Amino acid sequence: MNEISTVTEAAAKAVKKPALPDAQTVTEVTHWTDRLFSFRVSRPASLRFRSGEFVMIGLMQTDEKTGKEKPLLRAYSIASPSWDEELEFYSIKVQDGPLTSRLQHIQPGDEIILRPKPVGTLVHDALLPGKRIWFFATGTGFAPFASLLRDPQTYEDYDEVIITHTCREVGELEYGKQLIDGIRKDEMLEELIGEGFHEKLRYYPTTTREESPKMGRITDLMRKSEVFEDLGVEALRPETDRAMVCGNLAFNLEIKEMLEEYGLREGANSDPKEYVVEKAFLD
Ligand code: A2P
Repeated sequence: MNEISTVTEAAAKAVKKPALPDAQTVTEVTHWTDRLFSFRVSRPASLRFRSGEFVMIGLMQTDEKTGKEKPLLRAYSIASPSWDEELEFYSIKVQDGPLTSRLQHIQPGDEIILRPKPVGTLVHDALLPGKRIWFFATGTGFAPFASLLRDPQTYEDYDEVIITHTCREVGELEYGKQLIDGIRKDEMLEELIGEGFHEKLRYYPTTTREESPKMGRITDLMRKSEVFEDLGVEALRPETDRAMVCGNLAFNLEIKEMLEEYGLREGANSDPKEYVVEKAFLD
């Protein structure tokens, strides 16, 4: 009797939940604010990627016209480093967003679709060698840097690594803050980063709509030279500085113009130069 009911249950499950194409299993979900969450999923054994790249991920959805199930996919930067055995993603929650309105409800054990074809421009290969690298992020644009900041190559290639993160509210900085704290405590990375005065990693968080120790858009703080004074560094120069940018569209366009004014040129995988830009995902 028991056996029959087990078989029936399994069959019912199989009918209700068809195997997803390129399915990966969710292992952990963290909600940071009512607008932000991060999650970890299993990593396909064959997936190799360069820190800073993105993949297409998503869920199945029913096509309104045909009633058929089809994948709904979006580009998500991989937030975990290439040595991690799982994959991590950092996402916005848009209540009426086609994907994130549903994705925000995933739980450990659920499956998502992950196309194992990583691509992207925020990679070390797209930049010429330099002394100092700037990572400029707004909002969820922090994600590719969460990967690059945990990649030993970042500290091997540069004498100084500066990550700036501008968000509307203090709570939106928490994911990045905890990640930086984790890096400073990580045995492998700690040695590469150094300590105290000699520490290579500089973290510069700012908020625009809630009181915090450093307020203002990073672009305005750069125009006023406040960032450079705070960090005790010179303004960017093409001879020494490299930059990667990831944020909302308006931010990307504005900072791109500023970087060009400093004399930096946009690079690509096939033509490395002094800076690269990518748009943060918005549902
Ligand atoms: P602000 O609050 O002044 O708009 P969002 O959550 O909308 O993606 O924004 C993330 C952060 O990016 C916010 O702090 C926002 O500041 C900032 N931001 C938006 N547009 C620009 C821009 N053109 N230059 C610099 N920062 C920007």
